Amino acid sequence: MRPIKWDGKELWVLDQRLLPTREKWVKISSPEDAFKAIRDMVIRGAPLIGVVAAFGLAFSDSFEKSRVKEKAEMLKKARPTAINLAWAVDRVYRRVISSKNPRIDALREAEKIMKEEERRARAIGEYGEPLIENGDVVLTHCNAGSLATIEYGTALAPLRVAKEKGKEVKVIATETRPVMQGARLTTYELLKDGFDVTLIPDTVVGYLMYLRKVNKVIVGADRVLRDGHVVNKIGTYQIAVLAKRHDIPFYVALPSSTFDPHTNLNDVEIEERSPLEVIYIKGRRIAPKDVKVFNPAFDITPPELVTAFITDKGLIYPPFEENLTKLL
Ligand code: MRU
Repeated sequence: MRPIKWDGKELWVLDQRLLPTREKWVKISSPEDAFKAIRDMVIRGAPLIGVVAAFGLAFSDSFEKSRVKEKAEMLKKARPTAINLAWAVDRVYRRVISSKNPRIDALREAEKIMKEEERRARAIGEYGEPLIENGDVVLTHCNAGSLATIEYGTALAPLRVAKEKGKEVKVIATETRPVMQGARLTTYELLKDGFDVTLIPDTVVGYLMYLRKVNKVIVGADRVLRDGHVVNKIGTYQIAVLAKRHDIPFYVALPSSTFDPHTNLNDVEIEERSPLEVIYIKGRRIAPKDVKVFNPAFDITPPELVTAFITDKGLIYPPFEENLTKLL
């Protein structure tokens, strides 16, 4: 599945808010369109928001330096946590300010980022595939599949390659409250690809592990720090703790565009989203309207809970600080 269509002239993105019931495509033709699509989660997932933001900047009406800088800063604020967004916008910006043909070069850079992400996802699949054994039951959280990247995905890429190579693999997808990326998106794309997938409420993870009904965990990442701290969808940390408790390998898949060697742990901004996401389900209020809500979109998993990172450059085992820096 490709969540974006680019024909060299127009960019269309699949409105992921409507999945799995409706497939509606939305046209992106300005930095503002890209900003809104990212902020409102029309599209989401770390690599994909990077790609769409890159195109967004390339659609700027002017490439005068201060104007393009302003657009780049606006785009970077659409969502604060996934590093891919700032990384991709900065790449297009750097290309533009030193160019004689900024409009053409900006588009070329955005296309390049898109193609690179496609290749990185496939490479994650190739490197991760040997970790998957025939008959494995793998739990994944949120959506780190085609809909979060392009084609293979990150966490789902090793499963796709394993399936291509004839291995039988079953997938457990968590619902991923409150935005339900697991229920709405992961199950949708995996069923389309013919996987055996079981949906569970987030609260079932511990019991499932206790019953030994899962033997590996693979999640994606929105940002991985130099020392191996993993910033990913809220709920990842508790899954990692439970995996450790039950001696289940916990893998984190990421493209090199998600590695952030510069930011310190305390400086990572964790996006907090509207209380309405928690108080309402499909427009129906399920909690007192004045209740206090804490709704962070991401959490942080410490490196000691990670068995290995699956990247587009290879598998990375501890010591993470040394090996992440060396490889990525
Ligand atoms: O809020 P989202 O849906 O953008 O969050 C996505 C995730 O947390 C994914 O697990 C992560 O981006 C990895 S995507 C390859």
